[in-house]
Amino acid sequence: MTQEEVKNEIHELIEKINYYNEQYYQKDASLISDYEFDQLMNRLIKLENDYPEYKFAYSPTQRVGGTITKTFETVTHRFPMLSLGNTYSRKEIEEFDKRIRKLLADEPYEYICELKFDGVAISMTYENGILSRAVTRGDGIRGDDVTNNVKTIRNIPLKIGRKNLPGLFEVRGEVFMPLPIFNQLNKEREAAELPLLANPRNTASGTLKMQDSSIVAQRRLDCYLYGLLGEEIAVATHEEAVHLLENWGFKVSETYKKCKGLEEVFQYIDSWELKRLELPLDTDGIVIKINRYDQQRKLGFTAKSPRWAIAYKYKAKSVSTVLKGITYQVGRTGAITPVAELEPVLLAGTTVKRASLHNANEIRRLGLRIGDHVFIKKGGEIIPKITGVDFDQRQAGSAEVNYISRCPECGTELIRNEGEAVHYCPNVTGCPPQIKGRIEHFIQRNAMDINTLGEKTIESLYENGLVHSVSDLYKLEKEDILQLEGFKELSSRNLLEGIEGSKNAAFENVLYGLGIRFVGRTVAEKLARHYKNIDSIIQTGYDELREVPEIGDKIADSIIRYFSNEENLKIIGELKKAGLNFSIREEEISDGGVLENRTFVVSGVFENFEREELKSLIKKHGGKVVSSVSGNVDYILAGEHMGPAKKQKAEKLGVKIIAEQDFLKILNT
Ligand code: IVH
Repeated sequence: MTQEEVKNEIHELIEKINYYNEQYYQKDASLISDYEFDQLMNRLIKLENDYPEYKFAYSPTQRVGGTITKTFETVTHRFPMLSLGNTYSRKEIEEFDKRIRKLLADEPYEYICELKFDGVAISMTYENGILSRAVTRGDGIRGDDVTNNVKTIRNIPLKIGRKNLPGLFEVRGEVFMPLPIFNQLNKEREAAELPLLANPRNTASGTLKMQDSSIVAQRRLDCYLYGLLGEEIAVATHEEAVHLLENWGFKVSETYKKCKGLEEVFQYIDSWELKRLELPLDTDGIVIKINRYDQQRKLGFTAKSPRWAIAYKYKAKSVSTVLKGITYQVGRTGAITPVAELEPVLLAGTTVKRASLHNANEIRRLGLRIGDHVFIKKGGEIIPKITGVDFDQRQAGSAEVNYISRCPECGTELIRNEGEAVHYCPNVTGCPPQIKGRIEHFIQRNAMDINTLGEKTIESLYENGLVHSVSDLYKLEKEDILQLEGFKELSSRNLLEGIEGSKNAAFENVLYGLGIRFVGRTVAEKLARHYKNIDSIIQTGYDELREVPEIGDKIADSIIRYFSNEENLKIIGELKKAGLNFSIREEEISDGGVLENRTFVVSGVFENFEREELKSLIKKHGGKVVSSVSGNVDYILAGEHMGPAKKQKAEKLGVKIIAEQDFLKILNT
């Protein structure tokens, strides 16, 4: 291929991929299959690898991330990002309207009402149609440059494929984490016993400030746009600006509405009060904006916010109900969760009967007594919270809650580790919900993915004495299953096929499925990549574990404890015999990243990274790391104080020596 041909093909691929992406993310239209799409993407990745000089900043391959930002540069906004005046009162909305009428001297005017999305405000600059910079709000004057992370958000165009665009403009909007993604993330964290994330807004904001953009890419942030700024923008109203944004391929929430007067504004407020709770993102109110730009200019700004807009906030709904009692659930790890049993009550469209109380401290903090009237509230999360007690209604003589001291399922005395809030049942091998919970964890999609097994079947396998540990699943025979209620020939065969199929699950899935405390999916992957097989993990020591990226004291401790337990080793032995994967597959070691087929030696001391971090970055991007210089080595990544012998040998063999900065450039191009 000539250089010209390469360049043309790359451009064609970018156009095509962008077009299909836009159709998919903006219009919900799948014009080609996932397979065909992946093929286009793979071809582009390959060409960009072979011809890095044609790897453009707006290429859709940027979406998968891979860039590392050590510190986010502070930049000054071209137009300050102001905040909005806000109110919870309709009366103040009426006053806002009165002020406007007066200031506009009885000129006719219209409002645009939009929902107030609860995320992170972002400002994005486009130069010649290409996204050049994305900056957080910061203090309104200066924000952080988070461009690399924002590029991973699929529905933000990296290049706008339209003619006659203004040379320079800015778009403003809200980056958010969709509720299903947030809830899934917390489910995974719960399974790994990591502290839960408080709410989608903080998570979105934390995600935008992560150093590794490939993790940002996995987090599936989303973005709604609601503002367009620039000197050459030829529109006269906010409504037209929103249409233009849509037309250019930005995602705009379809919930906005033009309102002729206050009455329509109040109708809008009423119509969204409950409906907004069904949206896949948190909203905390509505924004009322004057539509015409000339009128916006006439109204101007106060010191902090525009006079032409205001936010009306919905009060978070709270109701009161009676606490009938507290029950206690035992999780897979033996963790005890107290649950408030409530007099059923309607809250924001659903009937609430129970609320999590987290732990004994929370019960004490609230000062709960059985029979109390309690206030409950619903936030972004699915599970409602008890926010307080209505002490005025407390009955005389009601008793304080006595937290249980024995496991409600097996009667074993509970323990509470120092510094932890949660009580545990220590009867790991004999407590039924722990046994069943471990099997449920093992079969889930992220682990062994045995979808022919469910909670009910596990229950019945356990009750019938057929399985007691995850390795027993692989000893099941058709006759065993046929004993179970509701199972016939076909369904039994089906179930066994599901179990058999799970033997193909990758090593990291098996490792995650074992249910080692604090080893979530990501940590399991890190361990699998680092150690390659289970025996190396069994034999490893605390110090070596601590050297693996992202593994801290707590995780290292837990891993050592898990593998020093005879029972666990016995189960692993049986799973090995059954034929499960206990080592990483060769083809998985490289993931076709930018460094595919490149071999590195890493030597010396580096400015921004630990040596181990660099090694794992290389591996993550498909490269190989070896310790000695030979003719097979492509690059020496050299820091300060690199050994002179290595240097000499490299020079003799003609191996390229590159510095940290060059390496980052290769990763980021
Ligand atoms: S317009 C001059 N529209 O609310 C300010 N803001 O309190 C113009 N927000 O920082 C902002 N949804 O993060 C506007 N539909 C919407 C919004 C919205 C959420 C946020 C935004 C801003 C804050 C202002």
